[in-house]
Amino acid sequence: MRLVIKESRGLRGQVRVPGDKSISHRALLLGAIAQGETRVRGFLPSADCLATLRCVRALGIEVDELDATTLVVHGRGLYGLREPEEVLDCGGSGTTMRLLAGPLAGQPFASVLTGNSSLRRRPMERIAIPLRQMGAGVRTTEGCPPLTIRGGRLQGIEYVLPVASAQVKSAILLAGLYAEGETVVREPGPARDHTERMLAAMGAPLRAAKGVITLAPDPSSLAPLDITVPSDFSSAAFPLAAALLVLSSEVTIKGVGINPTRTGLLEVLRRMGAEVAVEGGEEVSGEPLADLVVRASDLEGVEVGGEIIPRMIDELPILAVAATQARGQTVVRNATELRVKETDRIGATVAELRKMGARIEEQSDGFVVQGRTPLRGAHVSSRGDHRLAMSLAVAGLIARGETAIKGAECIRDSFPGFVETLRALGATVECQ
Ligand code: S3P
Repeated sequence: MRLVIKESRGLRGQVRVPGDKSISHRALLLGAIAQGETRVRGFLPSADCLATLRCVRALGIEVDELDATTLVVHGRGLYGLREPEEVLDCGGSGTTMRLLAGPLAGQPFASVLTGNSSLRRRPMERIAIPLRQMGAGVRTTEGCPPLTIRGGRLQGIEYVLPVASAQVKSAILLAGLYAEGETVVREPGPARDHTERMLAAMGAPLRAAKGVITLAPDPSSLAPLDITVPSDFSSAAFPLAAALLVLSSEVTIKGVGINPTRTGLLEVLRRMGAEVAVEGGEEVSGEPLADLVVRASDLEGVEVGGEIIPRMIDELPILAVAATQARGQTVVRNATELRVKETDRIGATVAELRKMGARIEEQSDGFVVQGRTPLRGAHVSSRGDHRLAMSLAVAGLIARGETAIKGAECIRDSFPGFVETLRALGATVECQ
C-alpha cells in the first residue's frame, strides 16, 4: 500500500488512538498463565498483538474475542501451557518473542520460535544469556531467531541488564515466576514497567525501587484481572506531533497512557516549547491516563541523551521530524538501541527524511538535525517499519506538495486506523 499525503493546514478535533501495544501483549501473556478468566478491554488488534494471540492459542490457551478489542483469556495457571504442535510464529513482533521466552523457559517441554525476515535479523542472545543462566536450554541461530527453548527447572539469578530493555527485563521476570530462589534485575535506566505493574496487580511478590526489581520465589499462582488498556502514548505521538507542526492546529487526544516510563517525548517537546496540556488524569488498571490537548507551537532545538532515551525509544523518529521545524540544532545521543529495532532506525530515518530536504546527520548513537528547514514532498519508503512510515506521514503534512510513502501497510503493526485518525483531524491522506 502507498500513502499519499498533501500539505495540510489547521488540524482540529478530538481523537482516540488504539490501545497500548506493550500492555496488550502483556495482558494476553500474563492472562494465559494466570489462574482463571482475564478480561481485556481496549485490546490493540494490531498485527504484532495478533501474533501474540496466535502463539498463546498455539500453547493451548482459549481466548474468546467478544469483539475486536474485548477478549477473555482462559488462563490455565503457571503450568497450564501445552506443548505446541507447530513452530511458534511471532510475525514481526520482538515483544512477542522475547516475552514469551520467559514462561517457556519454565515449561516441561521444548518450543521453537520464529518470525518474519525483519524479526529474524534481531538480536536474541540478550534474552538467551540470562535464561541459560537460570537453567533453561536456549539456542539461537547465530544470535537471532529461530530460537529453541528447552524449559526446565529454573534458579533465580541476579542480573544486571547491559542495555535498558523492557523486553529483556520482562523475559527474566516471567521466567523468575518459575524459579527457585529470588530473581533480581538491575536496570541501567528506566525501561517501561508495565510487566512489573501487571505482575504486582496479579499478586506476584514483586518489589521495584531505584532500578532494582526483586521477585520472591514460588508465587503460588497469578490472580486473573479485569484489564482496561489505555490508548498507546507511542501512537498518540503521531497526531501529537502533527498538531504541533501543522499551522493553526488544535487537537485533543483522549485517554492516553501517561506512565512516566513512556512519556519522555512529552518532556522533551515541552523543553522545546511545545504547548501540550495534560488534562483529567486518572488511574485505570494500575496505569495512569489523561487527555492531551495540543496546539501548534514554535519549537527550539534541544539536546537529548542519557536516562530519558529508554523512556522515549520508540518516539525518536517522530522527534527527528519535529526537530526539522525547531529553530537551531537538535542532538540525540545514547540511542544505539535504535539500530536493532524493526529496521536500523537511525540509518533509515536519516536517509528517508533527507529525501524530503531535512538537514539531518547520522551519528553512531543518534542523529543531529538543523532547523528550521522547509520540507518538500518526495517519494519515500517505510522500509517495513511502522513507526518510520507514520513519522514520514507527519512530515508529509508539513511538506510542500505531495509525499508518497511506499510500503505503508506496516502501519497496521501498531496503529490500525492511523489514516482515518489523520483524516478525522482534517488532513488529506489517500491510500493507493
Ligand atoms: C517494548 C520494549 C521496547 C520497545 C518496543 C516495545 C515492550 O523494546 O522498543 O516497541 O513492550 O517491552 P526494547 O525492550 O528492545 O527496548
